[in-house]
Amino acid sequence: MNPAIAELRALARSVSEHAHSPHSGLQVGAVVVDGRGNTYTGCNVENASYGLTQCAERNALGAAIAAGVRPGEIHTLLVYARGFQALSPCGACRQVMAELLAPDARVISCANDEAERSWKIGELLPDPFIID
Ligand code: THU
Repeated sequence: MNPAIAELRALARSVSEHAHSPHSGLQVGAVVVDGRGNTYTGCNVENASYGLTQCAERNALGAAIAAGVRPGEIHTLLVYARGFQALSPCGACRQVMAELLAPDARVISCANDEAERSWKIGELLPDPFIID
């Protein structure tokens, strides 16, 4: 049984506390879920050389891959932005998601309030660049 969305939200919220975001002040946490219900987390990590910043979503995906999860086995990605509105994932993350998530995977975004947004990966990035 996969963890309920509320549990994933709590997990991402907790991870967001570890964000390294001295430049934007935005704390973001993300969690991905594989086919066995295992979870992998990430937070945003900024750098004084701003372009080197890593988003929470890509760090969570990287943690899953490092743990042995294979591309296509991830069916849920939830992102939580602390003190912000439910954000829409950036273009770089969409491209990485398109390669690593299952084709029918769901991406969920939430924040402090109850408002929640949700997309299929194909809605976030139609016709992605993929090398088969
Ligand atoms: N950020 C994320 O972690 N995920 C997103 O989907 C959008 C933006 C981070 C990157 C940076 O540390 C801060 O939010 C402001 O862009």
